[in-house]
Amino acid sequence: MIKLENVKKRYAERTVLDIPLLSIAQGEIVAFAGANGSGKTTLLRLLAGLIQADEGSAQLPAERLYMPQQCYAFRGDLVKNITLGGGDAAKARQLLEALELSALADKPARSLSGGELQRLALCRLLVRDCRVLLLDEPTAACDARGAELVLHAIQAYREAHDCAVLMTTHSPVLAAKGADRLIILNSGKPEADGEPREVLLHPATEWAKSFIAGWKIEC
Ligand SMILES: Nc1ncnc2c1ncn2[C@@H]1O[C@H](COP(=O)(O)OP(=O)(O)OP(=O)(O)O)[C@@H](O)[C@H]1O
Ligand SMILES: [Mg+2]
Repeated sequence: MIKLENVKKRYAERTVLDIPLLSIAQGEIVAFAGANGSGKTTLLRLLAGLIQADEGSAQLPAERLYMPQQCYAFRGDLVKNITLGGGDAAKARQLLEALELSALADKPARSLSGGELQRLALCRLLVRDCRVLLLDEPTAACDARGAELVLHAIQAYREAHDCAVLMTTHSPVLAAKGADRLIILNSGKPEADGEPREVLLHPATEWAKSFIAGWKIEC
């Protein structure tokens, strides 16, 4: 469904993304991890069509939705914020319920806390149909309960739409509990790729082993 071949992205001669081959199947939830600056956001922005690769080819469906790493709110209440792009108000209220934001539905979105705003940003995507969801650190601002709600909402959307989900994360819990596959980027290159628990418990390379050792894993 998604296929990248020899994709490279450079900034001022520095290669920040270098993907020899990456295939992602329909219905797959893939988590991308890696240190700050390892190219996770660059990869999602490239897949969202916001930036162009310098080399290589990418095949992917046209119907894609992208949630940036920095969430934002428009003026107006939560329902307005979700439906601004054409979403259905009843569906928006269902999503607010699922993400435990119903009590805040009539409040100005700009008054939300960081974790609430992140859940709102997810609702803004999930109210619409797509074939590929691109989520940049969708639980970064969430507490444990919020992260669980986000995971459930992503999985429910995947079930309903049979779409691919590509999300970045610094959370091993999100990777292990929420994804079918974990890919770790090392300076823009996939260094480990597989079933999350397998990748975490049996890292394929010394570099992956030392990167994972920095995570406190309870999975
Ligand atoms: N527009 C740009 N111009 C120059 N360098 C850039 C630009 N965008 C990203 N970079 C560089 O590319 C590298 C990868 O950045 P990217 O945002 O993809 O990292 P990341 O893995 O998402 O990091 P984080 O975990 O901090 O979100 C970084 O070193 C960054 O400084
Ligand atoms: Mg990033």
